[in-house]
Amino acid sequence: MDNKQARWGLLSTARINERLIPCIRNARRAELLAVASRSEEKVKRYAAEWDIPRAYGSYEQLLEDPDIDVVYNSLPNSMHAEWTILCADHGKHVFCEKPLAISPDEVDRMSEAAERNGIIIQEAAMMRFHPQTFDVKRLLSDGVIGDVRVLRSVFSFYLTKDQDIRLDPEVGGGVLWDLGSYQVSLSRTLLQADPVEVSGWQYVNDRGVDRTFAGQMRFQSGAISQFYCSNESAPAWDAELIGSTGTMHLDLPYQNHPGLDGHVRIHRGSIAEDTVTFGDSTDQMVEETLVFRNNNAYQDEVDSMVCSVLDGLKPVLSLADSRANIVTIRALLQSAREGYPIRI
Ligand SMILES: NC(=O)c1ccc[n+]([C@@H]2O[C@H](COP(=O)([O-])OP(=O)(O)OC[C@H]3O[C@@H](n4cnc5c(N)ncnc54)[C@H](OP(=O)(O)O)[C@@H]3O)[C@@H](O)[C@H]2O)c1
Repeated sequence: MDNKQARWGLLSTARINERLIPCIRNARRAELLAVASRSEEKVKRYAAEWDIPRAYGSYEQLLEDPDIDVVYNSLPNSMHAEWTILCADHGKHVFCEKPLAISPDEVDRMSEAAERNGIIIQEAAMMRFHPQTFDVKRLLSDGVIGDVRVLRSVFSFYLTKDQDIRLDPEVGGGVLWDLGSYQVSLSRTLLQADPVEVSGWQYVNDRGVDRTFAGQMRFQSGAISQFYCSNESAPAWDAELIGSTGTMHLDLPYQNHPGLDGHVRIHRGSIAEDTVTFGDSTDQMVEETLVFRNNNAYQDEVDSMVCSVLDGLKPVLSLADSRANIVTIRALLQSAREGYPIRI
């Protein structure tokens, strides 16, 4: 039996690491070997706190460690591309936080680096690895609610910390990159297409960074995805799809809360021949609820990346997919800035 382990290194001491660390430890064929930080003192404390064997006081040292197979890149958004490419050029696979980058050109350079080094680069958008996303996608393809007409989603929380990368224009801040990237990704994967036209509205802080963003995406099929994201609103997340013959509601669409059960509530049935008003339109509809228990999409993403690294499993999220997400986000930002819809 092949006992090979995927040995992980953490690139930074970011808060999000706390979600991944237990999952790497829990994975059957993975080992958490090292962490790197800009600060020697910080990394020593961090490694002791999290019981990580190797601690590096510079990112470069992690790259030079020949025992590291895969790097988890949890740097600020604007640093994802540069450091992912450096990791790739040191022969490391990279599991890079979302958004994969902040421009399509960066993704093109990351793709070239993956190709020339024969390594895998994948975006860590956790919900895309969760069974609920695959099941909902399949149900929609099977036509369980007919043709999708509209997808409506919200994702918000109240960010109270002043000094946060999400509020900093220099490092790729903004709520659309942070939360909206999930909503754009969910829309594109469930509708299995990229939008052809988008429009957006934003409320920005005094540094020009969006804290609230509302967007619409029009798809070739005629479907519309409308979304709201904010880091200055109470915590809220859900998604609802309305099709020609049914509706579907997801109370945990982004799988952002390990341990919570996700519910997918479906109303479906035939529309009565003599339906004239909304009053008699639900008579023949049935309701069913699918429950996804003990969710931990972070475990799903780590397990999947380990299989890609060790067994050559095709990545769940291709670089082309992540690139298309970025193209859409940038078009939404452009629309919000310029005040008119953007065709893609
Ligand atoms: N998938 C998810 O659920 C999820 C959730 C939250 C965040 N994220 C993503 O994860 C990434 C990190 O987010 P986070 O909230 O965990 O960030 P964070 O706590 O602010 O950590 C970012 C880390 O990057 C390093 N860094 C290097 N240059 C920096 C700079 N100029 N400014 C600030 N930090 C710098 C720092 O580590 P050192 O000081 O150790 O070098 C810092 O701890 C982002 O891409 C975000 O979109 C994903």
